[in-house]
Amino acid sequence: MIEEREHWSSSLGFVLAAAGSAIGLGAIWKFPYIAGQNGGGAFLLIYLVCVAIIGMPVMLCEITLGRRTQQNPVGAFRMLSPDKSHVANFIGFSMVFTSVALLCFQEYGWAVFILIIGGLIIRYGWTSAGILSIVTGFVIMSYYSVVGGWTLGYIIKAFQGDLNYVTEAAAANCFTSFRDNLAWAIPMHIGFLLICALIIVRGVRNGIEKWSKILMPILFVLMVILILRGLTLPGALKGVSFFLSPKFSELSAKGVLTAMGLAFFTLSLGMGAMITYGSYISREQNIFMSTLSIVLLDTVIATLAGLAIFPAVFAMGFKEAAGPGLVFNILPAVFNSIPGGLGWLWAGIFFILLSIAAITSEVSLLEMVVAFLTDELKWSRVKAVWTAFAAGALLGLLSAVSIANWSNIEWLHQILVKTFHIEQKSFFDMLDNFSSNWLLPLSGIAISIFVGWIWSTRKAVEEIRHGSHNFADVHLISLLAGLKDDPSHNNSKYHVLTLASLWGIFIRFIAPIAVTITFLHEIGWLKLK
Ligand code: PFF
Repeated sequence: MIEEREHWSSSLGFVLAAAGSAIGLGAIWKFPYIAGQNGGGAFLLIYLVCVAIIGMPVMLCEITLGRRTQQNPVGAFRMLSPDKSHVANFIGFSMVFTSVALLCFQEYGWAVFILIIGGLIIRYGWTSAGILSIVTGFVIMSYYSVVGGWTLGYIIKAFQGDLNYVTEAAAANCFTSFRDNLAWAIPMHIGFLLICALIIVRGVRNGIEKWSKILMPILFVLMVILILRGLTLPGALKGVSFFLSPKFSELSAKGVLTAMGLAFFTLSLGMGAMITYGSYISREQNIFMSTLSIVLLDTVIATLAGLAIFPAVFAMGFKEAAGPGLVFNILPAVFNSIPGGLGWLWAGIFFILLSIAAITSEVSLLEMVVAFLTDELKWSRVKAVWTAFAAGALLGLLSAVSIANWSNIEWLHQILVKTFHIEQKSFFDMLDNFSSNWLLPLSGIAISIFVGWIWSTRKAVEEIRHGSHNFADVHLISLLAGLKDDPSHNNSKYHVLTLASLWGIFIRFIAPIAVTITFLHEIGWLKLK
């Protein structure tokens, strides 16, 4: 029996669920330390520009695709694709030729890999962009849950009083031994995924929406508690100025591209998650305002996360600590150095907050795979959820085991080294690198080109107008010039600039070009300082 598609019960439900997807490890863990390393306030400014001119337009694209088609990413692309696409054929055949060339260089592994992708593109045309989104989402889901497991484990450790060290070295030591102890890491990874599966199996309204409405307000409150604690410590202002004062001399071209990549990741773009969530919106809702709210919430939380972390780090004299290890390696030590002996409580609150952020993000990744299985294969929700759970748990297991020690899965290590010449610290690092640096931008480029040039911005705007007609109808120039709604004046020639026309330009030109540059930089073909 085919079940009817569920919809969010309200705009608020959708906004909280989508903001839950966006606000995750990216905003709370990556954003503060990357901003700290790239010129603080200057980076924040550039990040905001990237969010406004690339992140927000692409998010609107994804949500529109979802609502228009009421389908998972694969179904969405299939429904709107033309029967024949010269662009897709060109890309597909180029890949086939590349693969033949690689055979001549005896690069058999890559030749087969590229041949398969080229074949898929020739066979499925633009629908393969949807397949790419699902694969990216699935891969990220598998290792995101390993990190999610660490956050859960750290809640337990905090409340057991096991994080009671005050030096950075002791904290780092504790983290590595926790991460490498599979008796902890594996159950935590599976437990984390299980929580997400249990939320999703109850459906869109009773599962995802209900839990987002409970968890997101808790996240905001915990964040405020931590900020108040951090800001009231003596010496906290140094941390605030480290994070917020714009140091343009420390901002490089590389920093700008980093900001762009980060904006994409923290807004959950390029993976079809927003297409999937968009497919549960009904046509009356104002998707422009919803998108704006989601983007604002994510950006505010990312900024607040910096304000929750840096004042405490500086006040406690851990100045050198701004780096990827910030959260697990030294934050517990920072909290323990706070006078008053409540280090376990601050650490506990922080890791609960981080776990909530990670759970609501993982839920969106898992839901995307589930939507694919229920829409395309007509599986029941229950069967789809538990299959996606099992597959994600297995792939994540390889990540968890490899990060502890590559030689735990030497066979996989050897295949990757011998067949693909990939030498990374672990399978976890390889998946992270491959999905964040390759799959995600490629899929982002595909989505914006598809909406901008193939499906057409005109049809997209028609869809957005349902529920948000101001988007296409308010003439920004006339509005600013005071000429709007003046019946005595035929001001049609001033009607040149609307939000819709601005958006169309961003989607057709700025987003694909900017994301392509970021992509070339991330894979090392474009070297910037
Ligand atoms: N936006 C999430 C974060 O910042 O941690 C990560 C993410 C979740 C990316 C869901 C993509 C996605 F579909």
